[in-house]
Formats: sequence, C-alpha cells, structure tokens
Amino acid sequence: MDNLSVDHLIGIKNLTKEDIELIFKTADSFKQVINRPIKKVPSLRDITIANLFFENSTRTRLSFELAEKRLSADVVNFSASSSSVKKGETLIDTVNNILAMKVDLVVMRHPNPGAAKFLSERVKAKIINAGDGTHEHPTQALLDAYSIREKHGENFEGRRVVIVGDISHSRVALSNIFCLQKLGAEVMVCGPTTLIPKHIDKLGVKVEHNLRNALEWCDVANMLRIQLERQDIKYFPSLREYTMLFGLTKDLLNSLDNEITIMHPGPINRGVEISSDVADSDQSIILQQVENGVAIRMAIIYLLASKIDRN
Ligand code: CP
Repeated sequence: MDNLSVDHLIGIKNLTKEDIELIFKTADSFKQVINRPIKKVPSLRDITIANLFFENSTRTRLSFELAEKRLSADVVNFSASSSSVKKGETLIDTVNNILAMKVDLVVMRHPNPGAAKFLSERVKAKIINAGDGTHEHPTQALLDAYSIREKHGENFEGRRVVIVGDISHSRVALSNIFCLQKLGAEVMVCGPTTLIPKHIDKLGVKVEHNLRNALEWCDVANMLRIQLERQDIKYFPSLREYTMLFGLTKDLLNSLDNEITIMHPGPINRGVEISSDVADSDQSIILQQVENGVAIRMAIIYLLASKIDRN
C-alpha cells in the first residue's frame, strides 16, 4: 500500500492498521530529513496550507507550522481570538473565505466535537483534525504510538500502555485507545471513578482506580493533565487529593520492580499529575514525543497532499 485509505485525517477511528504503519514508515524518512543540516525538502512547493486554531495551542500549532515549512508549503495562520469570528461569522463562512484564497489543505483545532468532519463534508480542501473538543486528537495519538515504537520496537502485540488521568474530558485518551489497539497493544485507563466514562470497558480497555496497580501492570504510562477548562462541575474534592492518589512521583516510580516509560502529551502541570523529577528523568520521553510530532505531521501532510488534484 502506498497511500492512505482516507482523504482527510478526522480521527484514528477511520484509519486502518496499514494506514498507521504507512504514516510511521513515511515519518521515519522525514525524521532523517529534520536531523540533517538542511532540514527541508521541496515536496510541497505548490501547496498552500491554512492552520485554523479556534482553541489555544502551543505544541500542535508550532509543530504543524514547522512540518509544513520543512515540506516547503506556503503557510497561513489563523487564530480565532484575533479574527472576525468575534464579530459573529460562522465557521463555514470563515473557512470558505480562507479557501477562496486558494488553500489546498486545512489543519483545524476547534472546541466542538465533530467540527473537522463537518468541514470535510462541505469544502474541497483536505482536512486534518488538530483536536476537536473532547472527541479526537489523531496526530497526538500517532506521535505517541510512534514514540513507543521508537523506544520499544515495531511489534506492539502484548505491549501494555496505561493512560492516567482525566479520561472523560480527553481527546488524547480516545485517539490513543483507538491507535494502540489497532496496532495490537493492550490499553488500560486509570483515574478517579468520576473522570472515567462509565462504559469505557466496552472499547476493550481495562479500568483501574489504583495508580500503583496500573504502573505495576504496564510498560508505558501516559500521564494526562486534569482538563479544568472542560469541567463544568467539581469531579474530585481538591487538586491536592488528586495528586496524592494519582500524581506520579519519583518515589513511586523507584519503588516499582519494572522500569516503565513515561509519556505526557503536554501541557504538563508539574507537581499535579507528574512531579518535575519524573518529567525530567531518563525514563521520560516527553521531549522525544515533541520531536517526533514534526516528523509524524510531515508524513500525514505529505500523504494527504499526494491526493490533491494539482492540475
Ligand atoms: N498536546 C497538545 O495538543 O498540546 P497543545 O494544546 O499545546 O497543542
């Protein structure tokens, strides 16, 4: 297979295992490119990409922009806070105005689940979902799985990954569950009962409420922050209590018999879900995740751009 089975990247749910493996193989080549003295290839000189961010972002926005520039695409950036969205313009009108400027591919982050799919059904450009509310964050899951592959090898069969934290409000968790399961890994979620969706076991994941048990089970722990900005009520008594029960400390890590890999999609809340010495430890691959994000996004953009009619 030399191309993706999809025309847009809306979610991991829509990808096949072969799609994911093709993205990884393509990212391997681009990882070599971004580690060369000249970090650029001319592949997308004729392509224009718009990055539309209707929600805050540091890593994803910068990573997409770098990936696009490394591929030599023309790039325009849009952030809702400084746009005419504030004057009442609809999403579809905003996007159609941008597309009228001959944009080929749109990367969009939006607070509403389904926004990327909505757009893909109404505009001609290729769409990449950079996070839609609590739904999916597919490029994050791909870079997370790619980082696990780099550390633990290509065979995911039997690999055990626990996702710890605010599963209910996390798009990273859902995309990671889909991605890791498609690759053959076993997935567990861990957190307080109030932050784990009631019927999540129907997705085939294990559920654990004790952090030590979860860490003793896994090869990799992906620590998530509490998404306070998406919480309408209080889901636990205090952050201090959450940290006591679900915060990963160096003492806890050192007391385990197994040496596990620590991940975090960022932004980190140091001293809440993860202590500084764990985040900065040799077992943490948090910054490798960020580095891999550029190669993974180059791969996805390159593969989707090859489906654009360039005549
Ligand atoms: N991991 C992630 O999506 O980070 P940003 O919100 O900073 O893009």
